[in-house]
Amino acid sequence: MPTLVVVGAQWGDEGKGKVVDVLASKADIVARFAGGNNAGHTLVVEGQQIITHLVPSGCTYPGTICALGSGMVIDPVVFREEVESLQALGLLQGDELRVSLGAHLIFDFHRALDGLREDRASTHDNQIGTTRRGVGPAYEAKAGRRGIRVRDLFDANRLRERLLQCKAVADPEFERLGHDHRVDVDRLLSDAAEWARWLEPMVGDIGEECQQGIDAGKRVLFEGAQGAMLDVDHGTYPFVTSSNAISGGVCTGIGIGPTQIDDVWGITKAYTTRVGAGPFPTRLDGAEGNGLRKAGNEYGATTGRPRDCGWLDLPALRYAARVNGMSGLCVTKLDVLAELPRIQLCTAYEDGRLPGKDDLALARPVLETIEGWDDPDVGPALRAARTREQIPAPVRAYLDRISDAVGVPVVLASVGPGREETITLADAFEG
Ligand code: IMP
Repeated sequence: MPTLVVVGAQWGDEGKGKVVDVLASKADIVARFAGGNNAGHTLVVEGQQIITHLVPSGCTYPGTICALGSGMVIDPVVFREEVESLQALGLLQGDELRVSLGAHLIFDFHRALDGLREDRASTHDNQIGTTRRGVGPAYEAKAGRRGIRVRDLFDANRLRERLLQCKAVADPEFERLGHDHRVDVDRLLSDAAEWARWLEPMVGDIGEECQQGIDAGKRVLFEGAQGAMLDVDHGTYPFVTSSNAISGGVCTGIGIGPTQIDDVWGITKAYTTRVGAGPFPTRLDGAEGNGLRKAGNEYGATTGRPRDCGWLDLPALRYAARVNGMSGLCVTKLDVLAELPRIQLCTAYEDGRLPGKDDLALARPVLETIEGWDDPDVGPALRAARTREQIPAPVRAYLDRISDAVGVPVVLASVGPGREETITLADAFEG
C-alpha cells in the first residue's frame, strides 16, 4: 500500500513543487487535495523553469496520472491556460489529467470579491493579504452550500439555479462595496458550456481512481498546497488560507480513508518565509531579512510579492510535525544559508509560549547562533553534495539538530533548485 503525502510544514512556499517533482519520478498517480491557484509550484527541469498553480507537479513525467481532487477550488480559465501552456512545452500530451466532479469552481465574481474585500480591508488595517485569486470566496460558497462544482457544468438547470443563489449573495455585496460588477448568469452559462466540453474527457471520481490504484499496488503521491501554519483549522487563524493544508486534508480532499495513508513527509525550508499578513515569530527586519530574501530569491511564485524572511522556527516545526503526523522531514534551500554571514535558529519562544495554544503574534523567539557555516568551502561543497557523507559537517550537524528537535528523521535535503541538486536520505514509497 505505497502511498505518500507531501505537505508544507511552514507558511507555504517550502519548495513542495521541486520535492514532489523529484518524488513523482517513482509515482503512478500524483493527486492534489486542497487549494487552488493561490499556490505556485516552481519546478526546474533541465535548466528550464516551470511554474504550475493547479496542475500537480507530476506533470513532467509522461504517463503519470495527475489528478485534481474534490478538496480543490479550480478556476477553469486559469486551469485551461495552464494546461495549454504545459502542452506547448511538450508536457501532458496524453490523457494524464483527471479532475474531480466534486471540485468547486472559481468564477470571475469570486475573484472580484476577493480583491475588493482586500482593498477595503486595507483601509481598515485588517487585510489578510490574500492572493486575490477568489479562493476564499469560493470556499465560502462551498461551506454556504451554494458553491458551483465541476459536475454542475454538465447540468445547465442546476448550474443556473446555483448561479442565481450566488448572485443573490454577491450582487448586494458588490453594491455595498460601491462596485459595478454583477454576477452575469447568462454569460457564465454560455462560458460553462465551453468549459464543460473541454473538461469532459478529464472528469471523474478521483477518490475511486486513487483507491483502485492503491488496491492494485500503484504508488500514489498526494500533493499538498500552502502549509500547516496556513491551515484553516490549525494555522494562525484568521491569517490562513480557506482550506485544510495539513495531511488530514487528503482524506476529505480526495475521498480516501486515513487507513490508506502510509507516510507523511513535511517540507521545510532551512529558514522560514511568509507572504501576506499574520504572525511570524522569527521574522527578520532590516538588513538581515533583506539579505535572506536576496540570497533565497524570496518572491511569491503566484503574486510576485516579496516574502518576509526569518530564521527556522523549531517550535512551529514541532507543531507542524504533530498536526500532520509527519514521518519524514524534507529540508530545502540549505544552499541559501551558506551565503549568509550568520545563521540563527529559534529553539523556543519566551515564556514557554506554544503554537496551537498561544497567540503567535505575541511569541518572541529564543535564538541560538549556529557555528561553522561561515567557512568559504561550505557553500560549494554543499551544492555539490549528493550523499549524506558529502554534506559538509556543520550542515549535517544542523540537519541532525532539526531532526532531534522535531523528532522526525530528515529524509531528503535540497541544495539547489534543480532536480539533481537533491540528497535522498530515505526511500519514498517504502510502504
Ligand atoms: P488565499 O489563500 O489567497 O485566500 O490567501 C490567504 C493567505 O494564505 C494569505 O496570507 C496568502 O499569502 C497565503 N497563501 C495562500 N496560498 C499561498 C501559497 O501557496 N504560498 C504562500 N502563502 C500562500
